[in-house]
Amino acid sequence: MTSNPFLTGNFAPVPDETTAFDLSVRGRVPDELAGRLLRIGPNPIAPSENYHWFLGNGMVHGVALREGRARWYRSRFVRDDELCAARGWPKVPGPRFSELSTGGANTNVIHHAGRIYAIVEAGGNPVELDDELETVASSDFEGTLPGPFSAHPKRCPDTNELHVMGYYPGWEHLQYVVVAADGRVRKTVDIPVPDRPMIHDCALTENYFIVFDLPVILDLEGAEAGSNFPYRWSNEHPTRVGLLPRDGSAEDILWNSVEPCFLFHPLNAYEDEAGRVVLDVVRHPRLFDPTALGSEEGTPTLDRWIVDPTGGPVKESRLCDRPQEFPRIDERRTAKPHRYGYCGAPGDGGSPFGGLLKHDLERGETLHRDEAGYLYQEAVFVPRSPDSDEDDGYLMAYAHHTERDASEVVILHAQDFLGEPVARVELPVRVPFGFHGNWVSDA
Ligand SMILES: [Fe+2]
Repeated sequence: MTSNPFLTGNFAPVPDETTAFDLSVRGRVPDELAGRLLRIGPNPIAPSENYHWFLGNGMVHGVALREGRARWYRSRFVRDDELCAARGWPKVPGPRFSELSTGGANTNVIHHAGRIYAIVEAGGNPVELDDELETVASSDFEGTLPGPFSAHPKRCPDTNELHVMGYYPGWEHLQYVVVAADGRVRKTVDIPVPDRPMIHDCALTENYFIVFDLPVILDLEGAEAGSNFPYRWSNEHPTRVGLLPRDGSAEDILWNSVEPCFLFHPLNAYEDEAGRVVLDVVRHPRLFDPTALGSEEGTPTLDRWIVDPTGGPVKESRLCDRPQEFPRIDERRTAKPHRYGYCGAPGDGGSPFGGLLKHDLERGETLHRDEAGYLYQEAVFVPRSPDSDEDDGYLMAYAHHTERDASEVVILHAQDFLGEPVARVELPVRVPFGFHGNWVSDA
């Protein structure tokens, strides 16, 4: 019996891939939902006792909805080298940026230019999946991606381009990547930074790409000692936010200091009427201190940073002091002013998964959906129609019912956040706690 919390309860991996059709639904799937709700997370096949949650083999899960029905559930491993060797599957074709790459990806699953990709930070290539989640190939976007990708591209709603911050532990620079709407990289910018920091996410405004250079850095001593996750907090590395003009080069970055902290995820960013960059972020006061294994973290809160490109200190304020993570918006508002945000509220014992929060930032109000027995994974917002108002749509989340040890996809109307769900799709197997996902519309 393991004592590793990331191998027990609903963190525990499932052994098999599953396919099931015509799922039971309590309530009714809205007719306008035609697509697949995808998500991904770690599902280690042979974890060690000091297994780190960020490093498990990837498994992607999908529920297909159409015409008021839940047509199928599928779970598939992302076929990395370890899995292929263990199960006798052929090695997945395609280019690898790094010789160290395992061919795996476990952190996010996206749809771009007609293709689905499982993605990860720190050097793994995107892994293309087919419509039924089978691994197709390791990808470098038709030979156009020169380096690492990331788990958190930001899609510009006006251009349909992806903006990404790549990093690789073997590099002394970061690499900003823009993937055009046709699925090919059209621009990269190398950005020198000291200490090889871990950079999980980024942000975008109308005119700027935003770089988070934060004090979690590569732990060279840990790496040499064989640590499986050699990153640690640094009291020496600066905490700063860089504004890179979207059409600019590395010399154009405006760096701004903020109080020491770490971010996994921003909620969103935009420029206000005065041209200042408003950044709403889930702020961790510390992370991986002293190391990623056995770390002191502190409560993550929703904070607002206002950065003036003409100079002066960053104005930092707290929007919500409740613990939270996995922030999402109505992504038609990416890089534009947003009113609403949807976050996960951690559960008992410091688990990242519990209820859900909905922030109305105009009214300064937060609703907390805390439903007995249910632990929600990250919620994804899907608009009711392409031109419906912000927040007029559905929040969909994979949830685990602790007593029944069973999983569901819960569909809420975002404007009835505390009310009875529109539908609960019952899944045939448990879906372990994972990282991120997205809705892929059939349209
Ligand atoms: Fe993330």
